[in-house]
Amino acid sequence: MAFPEERPRRLRRSPALRRLSAETRLHPADLVHPLFIREGIAAPVALEALPGHRQETVESAVVEARRAAELGLGAVLLFGVPVRKDASGSEAWNDEGIVQTALRALRRAVGDACVLIADCCLDEYTDHGHCGVLRPDGGVDNDRTLELYARVAVSQAAAGADVIAPSGMMDGQVSMIRSALDAAGFSDTAILAYSAKYATVMYGPFRDAADCAPRSGDRRGYQMDPANSREAVREVALDVAEGADMVMVKPALTCLDVIARVRSEVSLPLAAYNVSGEYAMIVHAARAGAFDERAAALEALTAIRRAGADIVISYHALQAAGWLRDQGA
Ligand code: PBG
Repeated sequence: MAFPEERPRRLRRSPALRRLSAETRLHPADLVHPLFIREGIAAPVALEALPGHRQETVESAVVEARRAAELGLGAVLLFGVPVRKDASGSEAWNDEGIVQTALRALRRAVGDACVLIADCCLDEYTDHGHCGVLRPDGGVDNDRTLELYARVAVSQAAAGADVIAPSGMMDGQVSMIRSALDAAGFSDTAILAYSAKYATVMYGPFRDAADCAPRSGDRRGYQMDPANSREAVREVALDVAEGADMVMVKPALTCLDVIARVRSEVSLPLAAYNVSGEYAMIVHAARAGAFDERAAALEALTAIRRAGADIVISYHALQAAGWLRDQGA
């Protein structure tokens, strides 16, 4: 019998050899921790749909951000849950609003130790739960919504956000926000564009956390159809042309092919959002005894990096950073 010349198992023989020959590494600096800051609560509220996560007060968000900075996470991503909602989501551009207040408090607490990213959208702020203002026929009015995104972005930048992350999937949102930021003197504030964001059931737990489920209809009129991937390449190209500094594919685990495809097309930093439903699948399967949560989460995060994402936003980010530290990474 002829034996093969190349023996891949040689490099799998020991943990040290496997570590040396690993093609992908997971590092806390690649990870981003999402935070929900809710206005008008006296203490954090545990989120049943997102086990281990809470709606934070500004004070408890500061504690979380300090932990994130200590663990060396790359960034925290802020979502606001306001007391008052209206048809246009006007609390989103209130300079004293919940996210703006949290941005200032987090900056005071962590300085420059970790990047502060502000999600820029209206669905947490509108009484109808859509990501923009509605036309009389119930559809989202793209261009009127852009004007509001510009106000939100400028208000978040003024409160100290390093990065504005528009997540509403309106056409032209990146160029609108870029010119508004530049005109207001925030030409150094970066944009992380949610470029290829799909309409998926995987956002279920988030909508509880951020209290933003659409009261009627769905988001298929603006978010992408999961059937498409060439379209993702076009969306990313548009955002790059409009001035995005970083681009994103969302969700992650059901879009690994899209991440790989986008990676081969752009050289900008690429983020992937390992969304709430993906987190919940791992947590609930682990609780049911299917596998160990830590092993499953680290494997999933590694797979997202292997597919080509530089940055991974994940509800496992803080825990993963702790696990990586414990294993001496
Ligand atoms: C919208 C927004 C959503 C998420 C992030 N930003 C929800 C949606 O589009 O319905 C989902 C994130 C997650 O599921 O973890 N502003």
